[in-house]
Amino acid sequence: MASVELPEPAVDGSTSIERAIATRQSRRSFARTPIEIEDVSQILWAAQGCTHERDGVEMRAAPSAGATYPLTVFLEVAPSGSEQLTPGLYRYESERHGLEATLETAIHDEFAAASLGQAVVDTAPVTVVLTADYDRTCRQYPTHGERYVHMEAGHVAENVHLVCESRRLNTCPVGAFSERDLADALSLPDRLAPLYLLPVGHPSSLPG
Ligand SMILES: Cc1cc2nc3c(=O)[nH]c(=O)nc-3n(C[C@H](O)[C@H](O)[C@H](O)COP(=O)(O)O)c2cc1C
Repeated sequence: MASVELPEPAVDGSTSIERAIATRQSRRSFARTPIEIEDVSQILWAAQGCTHERDGVEMRAAPSAGATYPLTVFLEVAPSGSEQLTPGLYRYESERHGLEATLETAIHDEFAAASLGQAVVDTAPVTVVLTADYDRTCRQYPTHGERYVHMEAGHVAENVHLVCESRRLNTCPVGAFSERDLADALSLPDRLAPLYLLPVGHPSSLPG
């Protein structure tokens, strides 16, 4: 399986956080243009990249209850979605800021079908897939862990959304999907539950 090193993410940009918040909206139409690897790098870093160290542990771009880090982030690449990544599924590895292919065949049709056939997923060149291992957080927080995991997914999704906004990329959070069909399409291990989809693409000339 392919292992991909991502370009160094930028820690500065030309769009202010206020501007990105002010202009952010869900945008559901995409040009048929592949996504550049620099955009992939920046988006995944914003999702779960390592940003600082505490007591010898690498901490990440989004907060996590008790630093339990229950989320695993994948990137689904549609046919012609990227010039550098072959179609399939990749797991983001935070500590080395790289991708590990987990499926090297196009799974796009099953993936889009599992997302209830939503065009926003079907037409996206790439989709960030947030999955969770609830046990990681629930072991430490038996009564609140599940809620914490969902809160964390929200943090990650907003980071991705704002980075897309600052890079003039379209995205829309997608929570409507069949959990079972999605887990099957992505061949997820049993411990990982799919939580949230963030399809990303260049703006098309169509509105929204
Ligand atoms: C948890 C959640 C799930 C969502 N699921 C979907 C979805 O499955 N499909 C979709 O087109 N939009 C989805 N959305 C986007 C909302 O429709 C959108 O955020 C809302 O209409 C507000 O518009 P705005 O994001 O442009 O401010 C979802 C948003 C959230 C927060």
